[in-house]
Amino acid sequence: HRHLLGIEQLAPDDITAILDLSEDYVTLNRQTAKHSDVLGGLTQINMFFENSTRTQASFEIAGKRLGADVMNMAMQASSIKKGETLIDTALTLNAMHPDLLVVRHPHSGAVDLLAQKVNCAVLNAGDGRHEHPTQALLDALTIRRAKGRLHRLNVAICGDIAHSRVARSNILLLGKMENRIRLIGPPTLMPSQIDQFGVEVYDDMKQGLADVDVVMMLRLQRERMDGGFIPSEREYYHRFGLDAEKLALARPDAIVMHPGPMNRGVEIDGTLADDINRSVIQDQVEMGVAVRMAAMELLARNLLASRPDAA
Ligand code: CP
Repeated sequence: HRHLLGIEQLAPDDITAILDLSEDYVTLNRQTAKHSDVLGGLTQINMFFENSTRTQASFEIAGKRLGADVMNMAMQASSIKKGETLIDTALTLNAMHPDLLVVRHPHSGAVDLLAQKVNCAVLNAGDGRHEHPTQALLDALTIRRAKGRLHRLNVAICGDIAHSRVARSNILLLGKMENRIRLIGPPTLMPSQIDQFGVEVYDDMKQGLADVDVVMMLRLQRERMDGGFIPSEREYYHRFGLDAEKLALARPDAIVMHPGPMNRGVEIDGTLADDINRSVIQDQVEMGVAVRMAAMELLARNLLASRPDAA
């Protein structure tokens, strides 16, 4: 692959290869000396047109640990504010010969479009409600390490599915790896064409959580609700917020996940989120750095193989 635009383009073997290489980086990242030189001499530009804590920080750390020259574009201070389009911005940066471009954008499909215009490898760091492939990969690595496998698991994805690129990428990945997926949430927050996903749908947490191995919670993504249905936080927490009582219906060893940013007391009880016997939320963050290192190494290998001067 030349780019990492979505889970949709990956085969199960591609997913396994990224996760296997990520394991090496989990080990490296736990050492005092964390440096490698696999991206030495390469330039990585991070362009975030939407807010981010985890994804932006982990892509930056990942690039630096691999020896790349990393630049974070301050998009709020860029000429986008003067009316320059996304494509013109991309062409301008492309002329500076970057090797890896990491892009987050509020519009679904914007990162795919940009990838068609540049010569470097593009990594999608989240586009609208479309895909967030490195999030699904880090979630997969977290599940595989906690459960010892990434197949034949019952996984519940709960909450605002309709607006979630995290849910979409996870549904694609977990489906490709032959897991059973349940979506739990209010019907108003389910995607319209739910039948195409091959999932079970519930609007009751107690029914949906019965016997699941993994419970993945999602934030209410108000920024994408377009003034439509916005539930009251109190009622939402009562019906769909994960607390110890609802979790008791899942398997006794079920793990609790959340991609962050988390709203405590809205979609998840804060004490449960901090319970290291059940919650793997901090592991997800740790895996995020390793997965992004692995994804960038694999793309860089393909990029260098395609360049006549790189031999
Ligand atoms: N999970 C995730 O994408 O978090 P950020 O928005 O903080 O990057």
